Amino acid sequence: MRPMPANPSRKQRAVFVCADCGHEHPKWAGRCAGCGAWNTLREFTPPAAGSGHPARPLSAPGTGPVPLAHVPAEGGERFSLGMPEVDRLLGGGVVSGGVLLMAGEPGVGKSTLLLQVAARVAAAGRRVLYVSGEESGAQVRLRARRLGVEDSGLLFLAETDAEAVLAALEDARPSLAIVDSIQTLVSAGVPSTAGSVAQVRECAQLLLAWAKRSNCALFLTGHVTKDGQIGGPRVLEHMVDVVLSLDGAALGGYRLARCVKNRYGSTNDVALLEMGPDGLSEVADPSAALIGERQAGVPGSAVVVSLEGSRPLLCEVQALTTYSTFTPPRRSANGLDFNRMALLAAVLTRRAGVALSNQDIMVNVPGGLHVSEPAADLGTALAIASSFRDVALDARTVCIGEVGLNGEVRRVPQLSRRLAEAARHGFKRALVPAADLEGLSGGGLEALGVSSLREAIGFALPGGAGAEGPPYASEAGNGRSRR
Ligand code: TYD
Ligand code: MG
Repeated sequence: MRPMPANPSRKQRAVFVCADCGHEHPKWAGRCAGCGAWNTLREFTPPAAGSGHPARPLSAPGTGPVPLAHVPAEGGERFSLGMPEVDRLLGGGVVSGGVLLMAGEPGVGKSTLLLQVAARVAAAGRRVLYVSGEESGAQVRLRARRLGVEDSGLLFLAETDAEAVLAALEDARPSLAIVDSIQTLVSAGVPSTAGSVAQVRECAQLLLAWAKRSNCALFLTGHVTKDGQIGGPRVLEHMVDVVLSLDGAALGGYRLARCVKNRYGSTNDVALLEMGPDGLSEVADPSAALIGERQAGVPGSAVVVSLEGSRPLLCEVQALTTYSTFTPPRRSANGLDFNRMALLAAVLTRRAGVALSNQDIMVNVPGGLHVSEPAADLGTALAIASSFRDVALDARTVCIGEVGLNGEVRRVPQLSRRLAEAARHGFKRALVPAADLEGLSGGGLEALGVSSLREAIGFALPGGAGAEGPPYASEAGNGRSRR
């Protein structure tokens, strides 16, 4: 059999690459088909294999196909980052040769966290190179001083040229390398600007192949905008082994680190970090921290149990309703989805007799976290109703359930684990979907099944100011409970 000839059509045919989004076009056009920008297409001849760019094998040169069982399994050595919560998130530390992308909005604390981690690994005796394309050496040194890690033995390089970074890595042979951020790197082989998808992809590919060959753990940071677009991290997600996302309002104290993708472990975990004057610190008991400042006996506050990954987190939802002088009345949601809040307000008005159509409604999740789970619906709706009625919910009750458009309280996944978390923090009672009550173990908590929002209000806010009386009173006895 003759060997396959190299595909001639793939050889050095010029394409036109959008300088903004990296979309490739076979022919020149005035407007990019990918992002719609005008006059951004540049002619680009991809380097042919064997010329220009060095080849980027992922394994040692000269290795052909071998039985999988004969492939050396070492190279997957794990080592600690010096932050137990982050280690746990990654499945027990970082893996040599693994590539991790830390994605997050600008200002969320990516550089801070990675500098802390880099310094701890360096202090533990490993070679660590921190490459910054965003900040000067002086800036990073000042930050390191602030974090108290100036003397960790960390190597530093300020560079934006991808080939120069590669050369420095080759030279330093670190066991952990950090590149902050991938969007600032430029490779000479790509005609577009730094941060474009084509550049980001090319630079990441160069570094990734190097990390695999050299068995070095590589951390990249990547910015995402509010809608998770632009800047290329989405392109990167496919290429890297682990994606950690760091969320949280830039001004709030708490940050939620979430493992979005993990080729070395599970993705069902989160870690709560707190930004302080000396960097990010780990919060060992997130639920206790999140509900710690709650004031008992104040109307408009409910505690929900939200599942982040596989971890149940107790969270306070606050609501405030006031008579509105605006038409239509104002609504605002902080830490919760706005549309979800509007839906709950409509359901409260139409299905539960809580007349909110002339009320401004503000909903807030203190601490800067975003609760996106439908299981927080019941608590959110009860917080709104509690503020409207000016009656406080019981301080030792948690509310768990999704609310449907008909005012029904729907089932939620993993109820027992949520109840166990609430019980661990001293809660005594839980309003839960009635349909979930069958065979439920409350874990020491009294679980009260409710099938509708109206019924839940009857339990949680009996006879408050503005209560409609009869429906609640008569329905209050219908609930079933289970301990
Ligand atoms: P940074 O790590 O630069 O964010 P990113 O790299 O994700 O863009 O963090 C920036 C924010 O963190 C900045 O607003 C200041 C705050 N910060 C602290 O509150 N305490 C600290 O010790 C440090 C270093 C930063
Ligand atoms: Mg930064």
